[in-house]
Amino acid sequence: MKLTINGTGYVGLVTGACFAEVGHHVLCVDNDAAKIKLLKEGGIPIYEPGLEELVKKNVAAGRLSFTTSIAEGVQKSDVIFIAVPTPPQPDGSVDLSFIERVARDIAAAMTDYKIVVDKSTVPVKTGEKVAETIKRYCPAKVDFDVVSNPEFLREGFAVCDLMKPNRIVIGVRSQRPVAVMKKIYTPFNAPIVVTDINSAELIKHASNSFLALKISYINAVAVLCEATGANVQEVAAGMGMDERIGRPFLNAGIGFGGSCFPKDLSAFVKIAEQIGYDFHLLKEVQRINAGQMERFVKKITDTLWVLKDKKIGVLGLAFKQNTDDVRTSPAIELCQRLQKEGATLRVHDPKAMGKARAILSNVTYVDDMNDVAEGCDALVVATEWDEFKKLDLERARKSLSHPIMFDGRNLFDPGEMGRLGWIYKSVGR
Ligand code: UGA
Repeated sequence: MKLTINGTGYVGLVTGACFAEVGHHVLCVDNDAAKIKLLKEGGIPIYEPGLEELVKKNVAAGRLSFTTSIAEGVQKSDVIFIAVPTPPQPDGSVDLSFIERVARDIAAAMTDYKIVVDKSTVPVKTGEKVAETIKRYCPAKVDFDVVSNPEFLREGFAVCDLMKPNRIVIGVRSQRPVAVMKKIYTPFNAPIVVTDINSAELIKHASNSFLALKISYINAVAVLCEATGANVQEVAAGMGMDERIGRPFLNAGIGFGGSCFPKDLSAFVKIAEQIGYDFHLLKEVQRINAGQMERFVKKITDTLWVLKDKKIGVLGLAFKQNTDDVRTSPAIELCQRLQKEGATLRVHDPKAMGKARAILSNVTYVDDMNDVAEGCDALVVATEWDEFKKLDLERARKSLSHPIMFDGRNLFDPGEMGRLGWIYKSVGR
């Protein structure tokens, strides 16, 4: 099938590459000329495992191409996806101006029936607005359908999530686009949920908010574990064996971040408020998440006391493992908090140092994780990168003035760390 995707961010580019991989012909559109130039030259603007190979392979096969022209995208395909950013506004609501702009540009270029599919995370009822907008701004007054098709990929696992999705959600206002949408997704062999547009939009916000709630829940349990000498990982393992609960997203730590959960929670709270419902539960989720960071910083200052003139090594800057994304990263927030207390920092991240440089200054960026502890008073783990588990603990212990580690992601075993001579403080254990 011939498909156009507007937006070449994490969602748009990975979706485009995966659609091409299963045999569709995909044109990716972005108004950022520099990004399109880079992609045309074989470059990839983001780090996502497996993406570069997928893009190269499908460009070479002639199934994936790039342009800055929305009109070209509309003309060349019958199905036009919208995967542009929906950033947060200061009051917690969502800025839908990119969606509106793209909808207008699509409308202006339409000369025959098109299916316009929203993949961006949007507040419930956005589909209705997109439909009104297209109707208003389409000079040719042609027929069209708007579909809501939320994306559930995780950064860092995006290719895998897209190729093997748990489910595909398709929100429609008529049956006309259903067969085409099903045909697009048939190669992915996933259950397809067909529903109305408002329900599809709510499925996305409700899912992300629930996952954030799950993390805050285990973080609250971690506080009880710490106070009682229990071990939150063992509690999570025991809880997770109940298939109604499940083990994923029960990892306690310094809280969730990224460009989705914090933004989507605020948006969902705001949407509820506008409808007249006070979503207290989600406000508490936000409060617990902020508290995790407070508690962790306090753990560090309780142990090291005055941070002024202390040197701290920090492992991890990305908001989670397997990504170079530092947007709303708890690791960056932690660094900034420690700097505010007067500490100087030596930092390392396997992939995110390039992007971190733009928002985190006055730190020493260290290329090798094993050099981070050099001359420091303590070591902090801020991101759950698997490779940090392979840290040369003996060398790090000897490099530090005192063998103190604050592990905000519970990567190491407390018993083992004690035996190796570390003063080891983690979360909920
Ligand atoms: C999240 C959802 O998981 C995706 O399903 C969704 O498609 C995406 O948002 C989106 O809306 O686009 P993502 O933000 O990429 O994906 O990352 P997650 O893997 O969900 O992690 C989010 C944050 O929660 C990270 O900071 C991570 O470290 C933290 N986390 C995750 C925990 O603290 N504990 C856990 O057990 C799991």
